[in-house]
Amino acid sequence: MRTTLIFATNNQHKVDEMRSVIGNEFNIITLREAGIDIDIPEPHDSLEKNASEKSSVIHQLTKQNCFSEDTGLEVIALNGEPGVMSARYAGKTKDFQKNIDKLLANLVGKDDRHAQFRTLISLILDNKEYLFEGICEGKIITDQKGNKGFGYDPVFIPNGSNKTFAEMTIEEKNVFSHRRKATEQLIQFLKENGTH
Ligand code: IMP
Repeated sequence: MRTTLIFATNNQHKVDEMRSVIGNEFNIITLREAGIDIDIPEPHDSLEKNASEKSSVIHQLTKQNCFSEDTGLEVIALNGEPGVMSARYAGKTKDFQKNIDKLLANLVGKDDRHAQFRTLISLILDNKEYLFEGICEGKIITDQKGNKGFGYDPVFIPNGSNKTFAEMTIEEKNVFSHRRKATEQLIQFLKENGTH
């Protein structure tokens, strides 16, 4: 029987991206599919701690194997901001457009537009926690392009491409993506630990 893991997120974009990497190898079920209706808090000052918080909340609730992920956009010229505040950069409403507007405004006049997405996955397997990281380096452009994806995708071009993430299909984004890299480590770990 395939291993079932609850994915501690309410973000359908993340679910679609991770399922496209995991395929049918493992059975990933979302919070909604598990019948859990909560907005998990992200109270900490690091991606690592927030990822741990999310998986541990769901583990305490369900006692089942589960994982979470926390991702931030880290912009060099902004000293790593928005980072852990990426979702709430322009306020509690978590509005993607307002976040992009604030980011572009804060970068006006800055020559260095280098940035990276960093994803932390926290897995709880048989009551033990394991962390996996994926990084994608690139740059922030001045005008939005594309309407696929989510979050900061319309203003981020990964190194090695001339398209923004929002101009790519999920499969194209996977070639470069932070989330794909972290997810592959998760899959590798599950396989090495005899989980099928
Ligand atoms: P969280 O991991 O749910 O806290 O999400 C952090 C925020 O980062 C999201 O609300 C998005 O704005 C942004 N974000 C996370 N992953 C991506 C991505 O792959 N592309 C673009 N933006 C992302």
